[in-house]
Amino acid sequence: MTELMDKIKKRRTFAIISHPDAGKTTLTEKLLLYGGAIHLAGSVKARKSNKHAVSDWMEIEKQRGISVTSSVLQFDYDGFRVNILDTPGHQDFSEDTYRTLMAADSAVMLIDAAKGVEPQTKKLFWVCHRRRLPIFTFINKLDRYGRNPFDLMDELEKVLNIRAYPINWPIGIDGHYKGVYNRLENTIELFEDDTSHGAKKLKSTTGSLDDPKIRELLGDELYENLCNDIELLDMAGDEFDMEKVNTGELTPMFFGSAVTNFGVEPFLERFLQYTPPPLPRKSDIGDIQPEEPYFSGFIFKIQANMNPAHRDRLAFMRIVSGAFEKGMEVWHSGTNKTVALKQPQQFMADEREAVEEAWAGDIIGLFDPGIYQLGDTLSGGPKLHYENIPVFAPEFFSRVRPADSMKRKQFQKGITQLAEEGAIQTFIRTETGREEFMVGVVGVLQFEVLEHRLKTEYQVDIVMESMPFRFVRWVVSTPKPIDQLKLTSTSGRAKDSRDRDVLLFENEWSIRLACENNAGLELAETANRK
Ligand code: G4P
Repeated sequence: MTELMDKIKKRRTFAIISHPDAGKTTLTEKLLLYGGAIHLAGSVKARKSNKHAVSDWMEIEKQRGISVTSSVLQFDYDGFRVNILDTPGHQDFSEDTYRTLMAADSAVMLIDAAKGVEPQTKKLFWVCHRRRLPIFTFINKLDRYGRNPFDLMDELEKVLNIRAYPINWPIGIDGHYKGVYNRLENTIELFEDDTSHGAKKLKSTTGSLDDPKIRELLGDELYENLCNDIELLDMAGDEFDMEKVNTGELTPMFFGSAVTNFGVEPFLERFLQYTPPPLPRKSDIGDIQPEEPYFSGFIFKIQANMNPAHRDRLAFMRIVSGAFEKGMEVWHSGTNKTVALKQPQQFMADEREAVEEAWAGDIIGLFDPGIYQLGDTLSGGPKLHYENIPVFAPEFFSRVRPADSMKRKQFQKGITQLAEEGAIQTFIRTETGREEFMVGVVGVLQFEVLEHRLKTEYQVDIVMESMPFRFVRWVVSTPKPIDQLKLTSTSGRAKDSRDRDVLLFENEWSIRLACENNAGLELAETANRK
């Protein structure tokens, strides 16, 4: 096997998707513990008190004194090179969260056992599902009272329309969680509680279902419950089918407790075994395989430097094919010129270090002198263009204007810059008789970011007025001119920054009504960026 093939096969690049408080920070920390990237985990105590608290990982960084970044975290486990992409989730939920999923090859859907599928999980799930990304489910917080595992399987099917195949079934629920049974291998792993409260790796006892030692450890009641559960799953459940996992139709399911570490390592091992190595990506010259001999990749995230004195930016790139070497010169789609990849950075759990080399599947941060845009391709081979990173529908809208009308120019400049970074989207509403300038965002914190950055970087104070719309839909085709469409009185019409027609709605019900009342009207939740 060539070195390139060997490196690619070992890589696993994924994102964890969840609703706030499901335990993403805790689980990430525990994966780092098992990956040997940190040696002692502590339960995440101080809550995210600072309203502007950046990403969950920065929270870990502050509390644990380790340096991580808000974009990707890398560690080695069992021969695998693991890249976990951060999906901002709390107040910092934004379009970036969606875009990050474009760089992943699979997703771990983390669910609180007591709460089931929550709204943010649902939104992120659909973005993954649309891309047919393999999704692995980890049901968390088994150490305390939660919903019945069969109910949770049912909920995945009803709410998300995905079938589940539990690989690791929990033994003992509702505060009596003791271990997991692996249905594919017929093995049982019972965890030994220690006094470290999850700070250290667990010890465990393993055996098979027929092992008398295991039966004795479990006791008759738990043992019989487990046998009944397995019988039911085998009778009524789905077959394990990797093909269906790979197309996002079936989700392998795991149970555990991130806080006590129960079930974390059995999950990590099986997940890395079944989740795919780097996947090909679509381009205008066909699918590009990771093992192509030339280096290529696309920019999926642009982060302005935290230092306002220098307006430099970091552009994050997913390497799609080949190998990256420091200082290499490659073609850039945005400028159609050759650029030297300067100051590349990669992020290990304990330090941010300069990258010497990286391979398909890896994520690197590039110093951006202001030339990169979201979705740009970089290639050391043919001049190809990777599939567009779409623009996702914002959910909050405000009318925005400069407080001082003399500052309109600066205002425009700042807004354009932020829109280019993908932090905000702009719309113009004309139906009210005068041009109304609107900004749309996926997460409300972006309004504060907008206000703050315009003030500090462009010296412009703004006036914002929030609007009641919650949904925007791009018009793909329409039976009549937009102003003649029959819409509810609370719906609106506008143009996006590329002069495309959009409709604005307050609720899902009015979207449905718009489609029913205007036969032939076709709407989309995402649009092309370019
Ligand atoms: P997030 O990043 O998804 O928002 O979640 P985070 O890890 O911050 O966890 C949210 C809360 O859930 C924390 O509790 C955390 O300790 C708890 N948690 C995470 N995993 C588990 C688990 O497996 N079992 C139980 N019982 N709790 C879990 P908190 O009360 O907000 O903070 P703390 O005082 O417990 O640290």
